[in-house]
Amino acid sequence: MCGIVGILGQHEAAPMLVEALKRLEYRGYDSAGIATVNDGALDRRRAVGKLVNLSDLLVHEPLAGKSGIGHTRWATHGAPNLINTHPHQTRRVAVVHNGIIENYRDLRADLAKAGVRHQTETDTETVALLAQHYLDEGANPEEAARRTIARLEGAYALAFLFDGESDLMIVARKGSPLAIGHGTDEVYIGSDAIALAPMTDRVTYLEEGDCAVLTRSSITITDPDGNPVTREERTIQLDAARVDKAGHKHFMSKEIAEQPTVISETIAAYVVSNASDIKLPGDGIDFTEINRLTMASCGTAYYACLTAKYWFEQLAGLPVEIDFASEFRYRAPPVTDGTAALFVSQSGETADTLAALRYCEGKAQSILSVTNVPQSSIARESDLSMPIHAGAEIGVASTKAFTCQLTVLFLLALKAAHARGRITDEGLRAKLEAVRGLPAILNQAMGVEEHVRSISQRLAESRDALFLGRGLMFPIALEGALKLKEISYIHAEGYASGELKHGPIALIDEKMPVVVLAPRNALFDKTVSNMQEVMARGGNVILITDAAGARDASDGVWQTIVMPDVDFDLTPILYALPVQFLAYHTAVTKGTDVDQPRNLAKSVTVE
Ligand code: F6R
Repeated sequence: MCGIVGILGQHEAAPMLVEALKRLEYRGYDSAGIATVNDGALDRRRAVGKLVNLSDLLVHEPLAGKSGIGHTRWATHGAPNLINTHPHQTRRVAVVHNGIIENYRDLRADLAKAGVRHQTETDTETVALLAQHYLDEGANPEEAARRTIARLEGAYALAFLFDGESDLMIVARKGSPLAIGHGTDEVYIGSDAIALAPMTDRVTYLEEGDCAVLTRSSITITDPDGNPVTREERTIQLDAARVDKAGHKHFMSKEIAEQPTVISETIAAYVVSNASDIKLPGDGIDFTEINRLTMASCGTAYYACLTAKYWFEQLAGLPVEIDFASEFRYRAPPVTDGTAALFVSQSGETADTLAALRYCEGKAQSILSVTNVPQSSIARESDLSMPIHAGAEIGVASTKAFTCQLTVLFLLALKAAHARGRITDEGLRAKLEAVRGLPAILNQAMGVEEHVRSISQRLAESRDALFLGRGLMFPIALEGALKLKEISYIHAEGYASGELKHGPIALIDEKMPVVVLAPRNALFDKTVSNMQEVMARGGNVILITDAAGARDASDGVWQTIVMPDVDFDLTPILYALPVQFLAYHTAVTKGTDVDQPRNLAKSVTVE
C-alpha cells in the first residue's frame, strides 16, 4: 500500500504534493510526509495520522522548494508514529517507498557491520541508508540509486531526491505501480495516475524492473538489465476534479445511493440496444473453446467471484475453481488447457491478485479481468479487460464496485451460457430484459434504508453478529459480515445456512443478532428451517426477503426487511443493498470513521 508522489516543477512543490497525496489517501492514512530540495538543501515535514495533519503542519512550518517527493503511509514495518513516517532522509538523500523490501534485515546487518545505525523500524530507511552509504563511498546520485536498487528484494515503487540536486529525481518500480506524468518543463511521478490528474493527462507507466532518471527536461528509462528503453506515453482520461460527497455525510452513503445509476451505465456498456446480445470489449472471448474457469481475487472482489461461480456453473455449465488470490498464488494450482483465468479487482492493483494473474500468464488459454480502473496493472496485463464503469469509489468499504462487478460477471456468465448452447436466443433476451430492469428495482429498494437505519440502532449495541444465506445468498452473507466488521468493528461472520448446525449454532443466544438472507426461491424452505433453529435458541433474526417470503416466514422474526421482487439470478445484486445499509448505519450509530476505517486502505498493494 502507501502512495508516493514527486514533482520537479516550476512552482512551489509543497501544495502540489499535498494535493496529489489527497488523491492517494485511499492507499493509506497512517501518516504523511513530504521532502523538498530548497536552495539546494533537503528538508522535510511529516505528521502522524491523516493528511490533514500534514496540511496543518505546513501552515505553521511551510516548506519551500520546487522539487519534492511525498508519501501517504499504510504501516507495514513499524508503528504509525512520526519516526517511521516517510520520507526517510539521511544527510544527502530522501526516499519514499511503496511496497516491502523483503531482505531489509540482511541489508541492515550489512550496514551495521559498516557502522551505519538505523533509527526507525521501517524497511524503507534501509534504502535511504544504503544510498547514503554508496554516496559516502564516492558514487554520484545515479550510481548510488542504481547500486541500492540492485540490492533490493521484494516489491517497491521508489523515489529518491538528493541534497544539492534540485533538478534530479530517480525512481524505480518492481511489483508496485509507478506512473510518470509529463508537463511543460515539469515532470511528476505518482503511484497512481489519478494523483497526477490536476497536473497532466500525459502519462508513461514504468514496467517491471524499470528505473528512470528524471530532470525537468529529460526522462531516461532503463530496463532491469540497465538498457535504455522507451515506454509508451499515453493520454489518459482522468477526472481532475476532487470527487465530492454530493451532499452525503460520507462517501460510502453516496456510493450506496449511486448504485442504480452506475449499474445502468454498466449495463449500457455491455448490453446491445435491442437486448439481444452482450458486447464485450475488443475481440471478446470464445467460450466454446473454454472448458474451465479459474478465479482468484481478494475481499469483496472474492465474494463477487464466489457469486459468479454459481452463475457460471448453473447457467453456463462451466466448471469453476475459485480461491483467495493470496492462497492461489502459492498453491501452484495446475492450470490446464482450455482454462480461462478471471481476476476481479476494483483497484486493479491488489498485489496478490496481480501475482495470481501473473502466475497464469503462459498457462491459461485466456486471462480476463473485471476492474474499475482501466489503466491499472491488472487491466493492462489481461487479454480481455472488462471495466465495471462504477466511477471513482472513495469509501474504503466497497459498495458500488461490488454490485457493478456482479453485473459484469452476470453478463459474462450469460454470454458463456449462450455461446455454449445452454440458453436460447429467447432465453438470453429475457434475462437481458431482467438485467435492464435492475436499476429501477434498485431504486425502489432504496426505500428500505429508513427501516434498516432503525434496526441498526440496536445492532450497534451488539458485540457479534451472524449472516446466513444459501446458494446465491451465501456470498452475500459473507459480504454482509465483512462490511459490518470493517466499518463498525462489530465481530461478524457469514455462513452457508446449512453449515450452521455443524458448529456456529453454539454461538446463538438471545444477544446474537442473525441476519438471514432468503428470497422466496427454491432454497427458501431450507433456509427458513435453519432460521427456525436460530429462533428456537433465542437468536434475534433479521430476515431479508421478498413479499412472498415475508408473508410465509415472518412469524417470530425480530425484524423483516422486505425487498422488491427480482429475477432470482439477480438477487445477489439487489440483496447487497440492505447489508450495505445495515453496516453503514450501524457504523454511523457507533460513530466510527466510516470512509476510512482503522487499519485499512483502499488499495492493498502489499501481500
Ligand atoms: C472490502 C474491500 C476489500 C477489497 C479487497 C480487494 O469492502 O473493499 O475487501 O475488496 O481489498 O480490493 P480490489 O477489489 O481493489 O482488488
